[in-house]
Amino acid sequence: MKFNGKILSALAVAALAATAVFAQKPITLGFAQVGAESEWRTANTKSIQDSAKAAGINLKFSDAQQKQENQIKAIRSYIAQKVDVIAFSPVVESGWDTVLMEAKAAKIPVILTDRAVDSKDTSLYVTFMGSDFVLEGHRAGQWLIEDLTKNGMIKKDVDIVELQGTVGSAPAIDRKKGFADEISKYPNLKITRSQTGDFTRAQGKEVMEAFLKADPNIQVLFAHNDDMALGAIQAIEEAGKKPGQDIIIVSIDGVKGAFEAMMAGKLNCSVECSPLLGPQLMQACKDVLAGKTLPKRIVTQESVYPAEKAAAAYPSRQY
Ligand code: AHR
Repeated sequence: MKFNGKILSALAVAALAATAVFAQKPITLGFAQVGAESEWRTANTKSIQDSAKAAGINLKFSDAQQKQENQIKAIRSYIAQKVDVIAFSPVVESGWDTVLMEAKAAKIPVILTDRAVDSKDTSLYVTFMGSDFVLEGHRAGQWLIEDLTKNGMIKKDVDIVELQGTVGSAPAIDRKKGFADEISKYPNLKITRSQTGDFTRAQGKEVMEAFLKADPNIQVLFAHNDDMALGAIQAIEEAGKKPGQDIIIVSIDGVKGAFEAMMAGKLNCSVECSPLLGPQLMQACKDVLAGKTLPKRIVTQESVYPAEKAAAAYPSRQY
């Protein structure tokens, strides 16, 4: 077959144009968020939205209002829309196998961010990126043991209350476990009351009010997140006590609100849990679509902030 010059150059231009269109097609990521229950979650959402924009990724975002059925609906709608990647932060650990199998059948890779699922079949997701919540619980317990040792209270009976996160969620299960394991080294440290505050400030306050009414001798509060600790601080003040002095408070996240409470002497320690997962997630989307193999678990590196370090660290806090 013979082509003249004009036809050849027209074909070349068409081929180049097709390549350019193909190369420019943005990745579409469907992200099913837990909700907007805490300062941490707001920072996490912002990190995901900002980094999608910076990476040129087309983000479809949904807020499940802390309901698993809403997240499942959102994931199904992303499957129907044939997005390139699905990512989500599971409200609770259990009950995901069916929808994850649907995503797998549709050949859409799934990335877990922040919270884990308890599915036995790990081929249902590509990777899980986020904090080690058990370690965070241990760190809270270790800080408490050090503090009680300094205060000469470590050998005495200590009355500890616990505000748990959302029932059935990975951070609530794991932080409880890590903390309990740590303080079990001292049988005189006793968790006398433990109830969920669903990771919200309002419920943290409400549950702490009930704890204070039932027990005037609370010495320590362990809250699974800063928002519940901040709600509890209000309850403690309204009960005429000094948070941070009459009741030692340790919580988890490291949000700015917690740093402000530490600088005001109302919170004693916040164990860091970084919500800034956006850049890592966008890179993972690109890598998985480029055929790269990702590690099954990507653990976020974090610190512990006792109150005495809060003022120095505050100016550089990003969330
Ligand atoms: O999954 C992370 C936890 O969820 C954070 O500690 C908490 O603040 C959030 O709501």
